[in-house]
Amino acid sequence: MKRMTVPEFQAQKNQEPLVMLTCYHAFMGRIIDPYCDALLVGDSLGMVAFGFESTVPVTLDMMILHGQAVVKNTSHALIVVDMPFGSYEESPQKAFTNACRILKETGCSAVKLEGGTSMAETIHFLTERNIPVMAHIGLQPQSIQALGSFKARGHEEEIQKSLENDILAVAQAGAFSVVIEAVVEPVAALLTQRVSIPTIGIGASAACDGQVLVLEDMLGLSPNTPKFVKRYGHLASAVDEAVKTYSADVRERAFPTSLNTYKLKMALAS
Ligand code: KIV
Repeated sequence: MKRMTVPEFQAQKNQEPLVMLTCYHAFMGRIIDPYCDALLVGDSLGMVAFGFESTVPVTLDMMILHGQAVVKNTSHALIVVDMPFGSYEESPQKAFTNACRILKETGCSAVKLEGGTSMAETIHFLTERNIPVMAHIGLQPQSIQALGSFKARGHEEEIQKSLENDILAVAQAGAFSVVIEAVVEPVAALLTQRVSIPTIGIGASAACDGQVLVLEDMLGLSPNTPKFVKRYGHLASAVDEAVKTYSADVRERAFPTSLNTYKLKMALAS
């Protein structure tokens, strides 16, 4: 299977909606790759895979390790790796050094970073140097300490204006696509119309050019999910049932059976 390229992804604006999911692991990557246009090795792995309270403690090395697992085990979807908190804000040069590590060490096609107008200079610096960047505006989980809440954005006129400035700034800076997180529908629709790059919504309505969800949320593995998530599976109960049965089988010596046991080819010498 040929992997989707950044220009192909970008050219999907005003075509069929783009399908994107997060992915952090090899086996999951193999299963979901054929159905997705892009997979995001998101820093949400801090909460989902490591149980952190936020994405803030996630390191560059963690992103690179998971990025390697996903790139190695997929062949169709465009792979985007998140730049974690602290790896790009200090200066465009620092962002370039760290984005280069991500691209070189994982083999992914693009990086994602959070921020609108404040990150435009950095996005420009990276894209001028051939590093494809997906921007991320609206709710920015890495800034949760400063924002204070995960509530949807765009109710107030002042915020609507600043979201519009953000999307125009990242598009002009050269981002090939932009994630819009937790933004009310009419504003997400307006933002999508204002730029020629695809918008990928998460909690930002069907008006966006594509959608992304955290895989574990839509599979029903996460204990709590926001309103914008639809659960397409119920894996938590399936895992619970499987492990309950396994534990009973082991305790009753019903597992392993002869089917799961290595036999000696020759009789033991007595
Ligand atoms: O890390 C992540 O999962 C993300 C999505 C919420 C877009 O950035």
